[in-house]
Amino acid sequence: MVSIKLRSRDPLTVGEVAARSGIAVSALHFYESKGLISSTRSEGNQRRYARGILRRLAVIRVAQRMGVPLAVIAQALEQLPKGKAPTVADWRRLSAAWRDDLDARIRTLTMLRDQLDGCIGCGCLSLRACPLRNPEDIMATQGPGAHVGEASAKCR
Ligand code: FES
Repeated sequence: MVSIKLRSRDPLTVGEVAARSGIAVSALHFYESKGLISSTRSEGNQRRYARGILRRLAVIRVAQRMGVPLAVIAQALEQLPKGKAPTVADWRRLSAAWRDDLDARIRTLTMLRDQLDGCIGCGCLSLRACPLRNPEDIMATQGPGAHVGEASAKCR
């Protein structure tokens, strides 16, 4: 058996990327189909990845854990140089934007949870009165307090 030692700049096979990143080959193909990562082809028409792909994949996975949609991740990564690992400065910029988005989602989810608290004991699901059915309702901005009771009374 001939052992070939890889040089540190040799491109990686899809199997090597999967092993090093902990991401399934099928997921790597999916990411590539969505434009999140890219590869070149070997003489035998097999995928080859620049080593910077590992850091790029780490960014993708962290963003996914934060609930960033793949389309948004793809847009962000499009702004980075192809085939190069995201730098620390790239990460700072991307993660700061995603943190703002995460804060906004937390605020929205907190508001929805508070509204749901008011709706749990109600059940009217009224288009006029229920803040979850009608999120633009002015009363919904006042929280699930007394007006929810009023809404329940109106629906009876
Ligand atoms: S179920 Fe939402 S206010 Fe009645």
